[in-house]
Amino acid sequence: MSKIPINLAKSFAFEDPEMTGIADTAEWRDLVRHAETLKARRTTDLFAADPQRAADFSVEAAGVFLDFSKNKISREALAALLALANAVDVAGGIKRMVSGERINATENRAVLHVALRDFANRAYDLDGENLAQAVRAERARMVAFADAYAKGDLLGFTGEPLDTVVNIGIGGSDLGPRMVVDALKPYWLEGKRTFFVSNVDGRDLGDALDRVDPARTLFVIASKTFTTQETMTNASSARAWFLANGGAEETVARHFVALSTNERAVTAFGIDPANMFRFWDWVGGRFSLWSAIGLSIALQVGSANFERLLRGAHAMDEHFRSAPPAENLPVLLALVGVWTRNFQGVGAHAVLPYDQRLARLPAFLQQADMESNGKSVSLSGAPVGVSTGPIVFGEPGTNGQHAFYQLLHQGTDIVSADFIAAASTHNPIGDHHEKLLANFVAQPEALMVGKTEKQVWAELEKQDFPANEIERIAPHRAFHGDRPSNSILVDRLTPEALGAVIAMYEHKIFVQGLIWGVNSFDQWGVALGKELAKRILPKISPSAPPSTDHDASTNQIIDRINALRSAGTESENQKDRP
Ligand code: F6P
Repeated sequence: MSKIPINLAKSFAFEDPEMTGIADTAEWRDLVRHAETLKARRTTDLFAADPQRAADFSVEAAGVFLDFSKNKISREALAALLALANAVDVAGGIKRMVSGERINATENRAVLHVALRDFANRAYDLDGENLAQAVRAERARMVAFADAYAKGDLLGFTGEPLDTVVNIGIGGSDLGPRMVVDALKPYWLEGKRTFFVSNVDGRDLGDALDRVDPARTLFVIASKTFTTQETMTNASSARAWFLANGGAEETVARHFVALSTNERAVTAFGIDPANMFRFWDWVGGRFSLWSAIGLSIALQVGSANFERLLRGAHAMDEHFRSAPPAENLPVLLALVGVWTRNFQGVGAHAVLPYDQRLARLPAFLQQADMESNGKSVSLSGAPVGVSTGPIVFGEPGTNGQHAFYQLLHQGTDIVSADFIAAASTHNPIGDHHEKLLANFVAQPEALMVGKTEKQVWAELEKQDFPANEIERIAPHRAFHGDRPSNSILVDRLTPEALGAVIAMYEHKIFVQGLIWGVNSFDQWGVALGKELAKRILPKISPSAPPSTDHDASTNQIIDRINALRSAGTESENQKDRP
């Protein structure tokens, strides 16, 4: 096995200008050969030939069990993937991340979300600052605030206790806390409610404001940069609504807090820095629910359960830092994903939680994965040369089964999938959970095993179908099978289990980024649309002259919007104002 010097990303950038990419490495080519060999085999054949396959292609860590044996991968291919991980120095990459190296090179930032949930008393020095101390101090402020809220000690402008949170944020300042608050409903504090507002569509804010009492509501303005158009617009409108509904300038401080890295912008917005919970530029937005951005979680489930969530993530972190790659759950999950993506040509990945409480997990992972690894240049700026992050989508099971699983089972494209479930439920009702679990088990089996036309013939013959009818219908009722999936199981959806599952995915994404040689921690791809929206905003006006400075289609749409709004739909729009 050839060893690539230092790590692939660095060698692209500094060491070997001749290197065109990971696809030129001996390890990659070896994997291509394994994929070729496996074409003639079915996953079920691999099981038949290897009684230890299920056990050996499974791994458990921090209360999370992963069975990846239903992927069409051989022991040899797995060994080759581990060789690839070794060649790109995944272990070194992990060390560089947790030691605070500025691995987010395009933004010159460290990536230290692990420090936010480190209960092992590590120091985390960055530029001479002891991050651990700052993290502990800020968490102590959050805990004190959340505890006061839980006890009813935070009083609104009428002297009544606050009991409702409206979290205003978007992307990482929304998806994580929203997903966790939904997932941990059994842990909600009695009498407390949380609403999440993200979309700049005024209806999102309007729907929340329709349901809250200003005197009892705390607005949590969550934005790492405190410049995001959607969040700033929603926050301004929320404050205007508060002032128009009994609040006053001098009571804003009791009803508005900010979660941000940008003290100056928070102050400029009119929130006292005393009402600000801080985090730092080394916390990526999509990795930020463990920081002050998690305040809404702590307010809704209590500070102790928030800590349990962090401890679950910490347990996964400890495993990730110390387990050898061949036993490392996030590393193996990442490698199997690379296998399906790059050596089996799978372009889409379904996240399928068989748990209604995890309904927002697919949306959360969509950002975590697609914003991280939806890149086409390597760290050096050279084309990456291989396929990177897949399209991530999903829905809770069993709903998805009655919507898009048809394509998963019989479509022309192969989609990989993660099936996720908890063995026990917090809310047993009749045999609902058993039925849910039966489906959680059945679908991966169906995807892998499939059903041959011969089997369809035998079934239909038993039911006395005439042969000509069977001939007509059999191709439609056959399933090719051989479709890859992972099964991920926890005992129960506790805060610890949830923390561990989220951390598992964060690390999986990071490892895949290391292999592809991309920077998983920037998101320049979101910038252009934002810039153009700023330019277009003043043109969305009935009095604007015809648009001329965009392409013809864009000009046409702008003009059409203005014409429609001048023609009278504006009065309809008024109804939707909060
Ligand atoms: O537009 C993408 C993004 O920058 C995400 O990465 C981020 O999570 C989101 O916007 C919100 O950003 P902020 O927390 O700064 O408002």
